[in-house]
Amino acid sequence: MADLEIRGLTRVFPGGVRALDNLDLHIRDGEFFALLGPSGCGKTTLLRSIAGLERPDAGQILIGGRDVTRLPPGARDLAMVFQDYALYPHMTVAENIAYPLKIRRVGRKDRRQTAESVGASLQIKGGMLDRRPGQLSGGQQQRVALARAIAYRPRVFLFDEPLSNLDARLRLEARTFLKQLQRDLGVTTVYVTHDQAEALALADRMAVMERGHIRQLDTPSNCFLRPANTFVASFIGSTPMNLLSATVRDGGCDVAGQRLALPEIVRGQVQSGEAVVLGMRPEYADVSLVEVPEGLSGPVRVLENLGVDSLVTIEIGDLRVQATTPEDCVPALGDRVWLVPDQRRLLVYRADDGERIAVGPAAPFAETTVDAGSL
Ligand SMILES: Nc1ncnc2c1ncn2[C@@H]1O[C@H](COP(=O)(O)OP(=O)(O)O)[C@@H](O)[C@H]1O
Ligand SMILES: [Mg+2]
Repeated sequence: MADLEIRGLTRVFPGGVRALDNLDLHIRDGEFFALLGPSGCGKTTLLRSIAGLERPDAGQILIGGRDVTRLPPGARDLAMVFQDYALYPHMTVAENIAYPLKIRRVGRKDRRQTAESVGASLQIKGGMLDRRPGQLSGGQQQRVALARAIAYRPRVFLFDEPLSNLDARLRLEARTFLKQLQRDLGVTTVYVTHDQAEALALADRMAVMERGHIRQLDTPSNCFLRPANTFVASFIGSTPMNLLSATVRDGGCDVAGQRLALPEIVRGQVQSGEAVVLGMRPEYADVSLVEVPEGLSGPVRVLENLGVDSLVTIEIGDLRVQATTPEDCVPALGDRVWLVPDQRRLLVYRADDGERIAVGPAAPFAETTVDAGSL
């Protein structure tokens, strides 16, 4: 078992792209840690640096307290699964899975047994074990690569979007399996994904990255309920958060020419005349067909069926605001509705830099820090 410490890690590619910019991060022993961010933010570069496949320009990497910054990949005792599974084409599937054991001189019979048991848990079984990777679908190959990492039993798992080639249903199944497996094995895991739902579902803690920086280091629930800035707010959530420009006025605020009450706890943290951005998830607002004095009002412009509920797009002045409603109270297109935010979940950000200044009074929480180095 091992924790993982990143200190001041910097990687500048030829051409001047700062893929990692003086990054600090501590990943705890046994933790399932997700690195989340849009394409190009530096996730793969960070993972490859931990693996020893990328040489940082500055900074240190410690695994289990040992400085591995200058060690070759093979000496770091970690297993990596890439987006493009790197399987050995001339070996059978079973041989691929058990290859790490062969290097450790485990006997043929035990290798086969491991290949069968690890394989079975990933739906790789029967005749599939004796085929070559080239005879499998992309998704099947991805699962073989996962199985091989598991068979290796390393101190740290590094996953780079390992489920991205699976079809939607298999991806969900593999996700659940992976989470259970990581719990059972207790191996420190760093999991790269651009899929916010995957990060939320899997991680004990996660880092949301943007352009070589960590914008929030937190639990999934804090990233979802209390995004530290508008970048994280807009990146996390299956339905995008509403981010509404507003001006604080007389204990409430003006939004697109309408007045919205602010919760008391928020009022104490903003000043009259201050330009802010209100963060409101579609799930945390009610849509009313009868007038609600403190609601934002406008006509329904778009209706989208999400299955359990519907996503309603409402035109409020020059803004478009979205809210979900249960399937038994969906308004009709063109209906005038009143939107009432859940005051406990309302978020308020500074207009100029997008940093959070206030959260509604929902469930008390320990304020966490964006500065990963101090954790
Ligand atoms: N070998 C390379 N040479 C030049 N630029 C690179 C190289 N690898 C990555 N980059 C750049 O570094 C940034 C981060 O890339 P990457 O770590 O792959 O992002 P992510 O995995 O988050 O999509 C991107 O701007 C990318 O174009
Ligand atoms: Mg990548």
